[in-house]
Amino acid sequence: MRVLIITCVFIFGFFSPCLCQRLNLVTTNNNIFNVMEYGARGDGKTDDSNAFLSAWKSTCAAEGSATLVIPANQIFLVTNLLFNGACKATSIHIQLQGKIVAPPKEAWKDASYWISMQYINGLTIDGTNSGAIDGYGSTWWPCESCSRPTALSFHSCNDLSVNNLSITNSPGAHISINGCNGATFSNVIVNSPSTSPNTDGFDISASNNILIEDSTIQAGDDCIAINGGSSYINVTRVACGPGHGISIGSLGKGSSYETVEEVHVKNCSFTDTTNGARIKTFPGGSGYARKITFEQIQLTNVKNAIIIDQHYGTIVEAVSAVQVSDVTYYGFYGTAVGDLAVNLDCMNCFNIVLDQIYIVPSQPKSQLQIVCKNFHGTIFSTIPRVSCN
Ligand SMILES: *[C@@H]1O[C@H](CO)[C@@H](O)[C@H](O)[C@H]1NC(C)=O
Ligand SMILES: *[C@@H]1O[C@H](CO)[C@@H](O)[C@H](O)[C@H]1NC(C)=O
Ligand SMILES: *[C@@H]1O[C@H](CO)[C@@H](O)[C@H](O)[C@H]1NC(C)=O
Repeated sequence: MRVLIITCVFIFGFFSPCLCQRLNLVTTNNNIFNVMEYGARGDGKTDDSNAFLSAWKSTCAAEGSATLVIPANQIFLVTNLLFNGACKATSIHIQLQGKIVAPPKEAWKDASYWISMQYINGLTIDGTNSGAIDGYGSTWWPCESCSRPTALSFHSCNDLSVNNLSITNSPGAHISINGCNGATFSNVIVNSPSTSPNTDGFDISASNNILIEDSTIQAGDDCIAINGGSSYINVTRVACGPGHGISIGSLGKGSSYETVEEVHVKNCSFTDTTNGARIKTFPGGSGYARKITFEQIQLTNVKNAIIIDQHYGTIVEAVSAVQVSDVTYYGFYGTAVGDLAVNLDCMNCFNIVLDQIYIVPSQPKSQLQIVCKNFHGTIFSTIPRVSCN
């Protein structure tokens, strides 16, 4: 075949630009790997994991850029999908048009992970229009003490891009990002009930240069948790709720040293969440959470709209705490429920700035409370009035 093509190019190449284009098409097609061609059934009943893994192997080993196709109008049942690098392909595109579903809890043998991608550079996952992942979490949630798998985990993935994807009903956290540098998530929909335990939307740890934008997160735990070792994390135009808000931490557990810096949350909304903009640290820890901004925040029925909790999980005092500094809350508008609209429970806080805060109770006549402890910072214009001195 190849000899024939080369001969054809040699003979006709000069005369036929059309032929050259067709040959280009052939080369490109060679780098498209469709799970159906690797034996996937897509009937929602047969375990298609092995077909996915074989298709992945070919995709990863291809030259140049390669595409893995998971076609539309099919339901793929899979367990323990590990897409491992390093890949020969320099960029990989996963076209997720069909739906990937997990089996019920009883059918899992090893539930330590579900869909896991690691050591891959230049990966794009595009779920445009129909791509969806459903973790059958309802079979797991009654067992709160079970170790429940994360739906989609990225470990050591650089230059990652995930677009137009819907992830629902994860047994545990929906998306975890660990040890990654450079990742953009756009138009991602996370959806699980508010009562589902520990179903964080995004869990970010030890990662840098991460952007989550234009996304909707409904979950039973933090919409986004930004954990130790993370920096340059932007969250823009994200609608959070129900859920537990957007959290830095928790940091400093078990007297650990942890750091988070340069987190910018902008033009986001919180609806029916148990927290809004939250920073949580354990007494006894060390390190820092610094250079953090929350701005243009819309609130609807939010508890603890602004919260720094340096006594996370305990009321005991300790000699040390993670230092929280250079944090700005600017432009919070909307309604709150519960007592504490602003809770600044500090042990080690510096240069905390509040400005343009306008929070009113959801129910008329109720009063919003403010707590300040060990606060060091500046408070400009706020309703309710916050006075920390
Ligand atoms: C998401 O899908 C829409 C079409 O539904 C498309 O216009 C848009 O470019 C996609 N976004 C990304 C980042 O691929
Ligand atoms: C992240 O936000 C900061 C502050 O708003 C901005 O300077 C920076 O350009 C943003 N980065 C990305 C990748 O969006
Ligand atoms: C915030 O984002 C919304 C879309 O989510 C957009 O309509 C609005 O203009 C943005 N506001 C600002 C001030 O950028």
